[in-house]
Amino acid sequence: MGIAPHGGTLINRYNPEYNYSHIQEAIELDNIGLSDLELIGIGAFSPLTGFLTKKDYDSVVENMRLANGIVWSIPITLPVEEEQADRIDIGDEVKLTFNGEVYGVIKVEDKYKPDKQKEAEYVYRTKDEEHPGVAKLYERPPVYLGGDVVLVKKTEKPFPNETFEPAESRAAFERFGWNTVVGFQTRNPVHRAHEYIQKTALETVDGLFLQPLVGETKKDDIPADIRMESYRVLLENYYPKDRVLLGIFPAAMRYAGPREAIFHAIVRKNYGCTHFIVGRDHAGVGNYYGTYDAQKIFFNFTKEELDITPLFFEHSFYCKKCDGMASHKTCPHSDDDRVILSGTKVRERLRNGEPLPNTFSRPEVVEVLVKGLRQEALQK
Ligand code: ADX
Repeated sequence: MGIAPHGGTLINRYNPEYNYSHIQEAIELDNIGLSDLELIGIGAFSPLTGFLTKKDYDSVVENMRLANGIVWSIPITLPVEEEQADRIDIGDEVKLTFNGEVYGVIKVEDKYKPDKQKEAEYVYRTKDEEHPGVAKLYERPPVYLGGDVVLVKKTEKPFPNETFEPAESRAAFERFGWNTVVGFQTRNPVHRAHEYIQKTALETVDGLFLQPLVGETKKDDIPADIRMESYRVLLENYYPKDRVLLGIFPAAMRYAGPREAIFHAIVRKNYGCTHFIVGRDHAGVGNYYGTYDAQKIFFNFTKEELDITPLFFEHSFYCKKCDGMASHKTCPHSDDDRVILSGTKVRERLRNGEPLPNTFSRPEVVEVLVKGLRQEALQK
């Protein structure tokens, strides 16, 4: 059985037999559009059955809820150019393509011009174009189409052995006999702090679902294949095999901080998780969000309407005086005793092939990261 999906039903919009031969018009999707289409299709975005109509969009932007009141914090939209929108009428079916190949069909219910400045301010808490999520929002075309979709083709899987659709991860948890499962979102290389909070969470639940995000990320984030490999070596050497499932999260990163934390939690519930880890500056970027804003936002909702338990963690690190991993909550010492490195500094060091201390990152992981980044540099 497992935990109920968000909204009560696991959506399935996949139909490879769907006949679209009569449809002329096609919208060429960008990477975000393609991943959103697929995530709707496989039920990861339940209860969404398509791209948001204006009524739902306005409600999500302003109130973090769909028009029917169900919590939803990130607008899932289909932006198209104005000339194309002019050619499309309400009620039309339109093909959704990527590199010219058809992946889906939308039945257009709505066509509207969003106020992107407002969307930026409400969703990202900033209108600053330097924010990667806001930059992307402004860069995408100006008219949104809303309506239900059919997914007619799934994308090629970059990590086939580590790909689980929501129905599959749910079935796996049941097979493993896990009644409680904590989900973990990540877009960064894995460090001791991640391991510490994952294992601390695992002390109180049956299983851990590690779901690195492998959809579109900003340019200076570490590529997904290198991150996946570092997870594999970490699991191999430091985690009990029967307590962890590694599976990708094929979504685009929005860097929307607090709003994205809610979204990440809801979506992980659809994958079957009962708990979800939210640590320091979850899904944040730069200095746009307060360290714990992504935790505070959860208090806007009742336990029943989210129905997944967030597990909050304070900033964690290795403390030399404690001689172990700790956090602001459990360690009385000063920053001088703590091994704290910023993400930017870590990326810089790794790209220069410089070592990272064992207290910050497992040596096997550092090896994979340095090797991967060296190869990446050679290919450029
Ligand atoms: S994120 O953009 O996907 O959130 P990242 O991969 O860095 O980025 O973080 C994954 C999860 O670990 C998030 O919940 C984040 O808050 C948490 N986290 C990362 N580093 C720390 C840390 N040092 N202390 C506590 N939580 C952390």
